[in-house]
Amino acid sequence: MTDCKTNIPKILLTGANGQLGFELRRSLAPVGEVLALDRKGCDLARPDMIRQVVRQARPDIIVNAGAYTAVDKAELEEAAAFAINAVAPGVLAEEARDLGALLVHYSTDYVFNGEKSGYYSESDTPNPVSAYARSKAAGEQSVLDADMQAWIFRTSWVFSAHGSNFLKTMMRLARTKETLRVVNDQFGAPTSASLVADVTAHALRQGWLHAGCGRAERGVYHLVASGETTWFEFARAIVERMRDAGESLKVQPDQIVPILSSEFPVPARRPANSRLSTEKLRNTFGVHLPEWRQCMHYVLDQLED
Ligand SMILES: NC(=O)c1ccc[n+]([C@@H]2O[C@H](COP(=O)([O-])OP(=O)(O)OC[C@H]3O[C@@H](n4cnc5c(N)ncnc54)[C@H](OP(=O)(O)O)[C@@H]3O)[C@@H](O)[C@H]2O)c1
Repeated sequence: MTDCKTNIPKILLTGANGQLGFELRRSLAPVGEVLALDRKGCDLARPDMIRQVVRQARPDIIVNAGAYTAVDKAELEEAAAFAINAVAPGVLAEEARDLGALLVHYSTDYVFNGEKSGYYSESDTPNPVSAYARSKAAGEQSVLDADMQAWIFRTSWVFSAHGSNFLKTMMRLARTKETLRVVNDQFGAPTSASLVADVTAHALRQGWLHAGCGRAERGVYHLVASGETTWFEFARAIVERMRDAGESLKVQPDQIVPILSSEFPVPARRPANSRLSTEKLRNTFGVHLPEWRQCMHYVLDQLED
């Protein structure tokens, strides 16, 4: 086990090619020596492989960015989603416990049914309403059950320049489609993968390395950008910004049509209210969370040629 103050920690990162994994490779590089593994290097569907990889690497910190994230497909593949999102985090937690390592794991606003009015806090009880959401809620529980030092960062509406996400889909549709109809009755905070990755690195320095290993309380923390919006308003902000940058668009921002969730049927139900209070994270780690628009502008700047 590393002396937290003097030695450089060894960090094992899973899911290193996802939106978040990609950004963590950058943000964790100055925190410690990062062993970044994709599915080939550490298949989260294979508990035996997870155990072997962790035992060989002997990390001080495990950051689990890998996940089954196909929300609608999970309705048909619940067992696959559970293997990766529920069983694997439990195996990582057990292995981390045996090494005395810290586990950083990620979860989602979808663990809530969205029927609460106002912001969800970490003390609210999860009540997932889709297969993906049930698998993520079970993953949180399996980490908590392992009774070791772990932080679970719940985030929402993740986007980045790397990978597939709502922001990139809207950019493509605005360039190619004559009409765009976007759901306007789900509320949440679009959050860039780079913000989640940067806050993770900050938390590791602030709450673990500088404070002495494991000082910040184990458990769940909400980690989302400040402010709130709907998918429709988010789409409009993206397309406005494209227009202002001089892009040739098929759809102008004021031509985007707001619709109800019921007008856009999808296999997995989404929560109407995904607002997450970040007070606990801000108080614990002394972190500032920028507004979602600021994160959006940064990613759009990255995507501009
Ligand atoms: N995306 C969102 O809107 C959102 C919202 C809230 C919370 N979250 C949570 O945030 C975390 C990061 O999500 P993300 O947006 O970065 O997702 P992502 O872009 O879909 O990345 C997930 C990564 O996990 C990898 N993966 C899938 N199955 C695997 C397996 N069996 N073994 C190893 N790796 C595997 C994928 O690898 P392949 O490329 O090989 O498939 C991919 O690189 C997840 O815990 C997710 O639940 C995401």
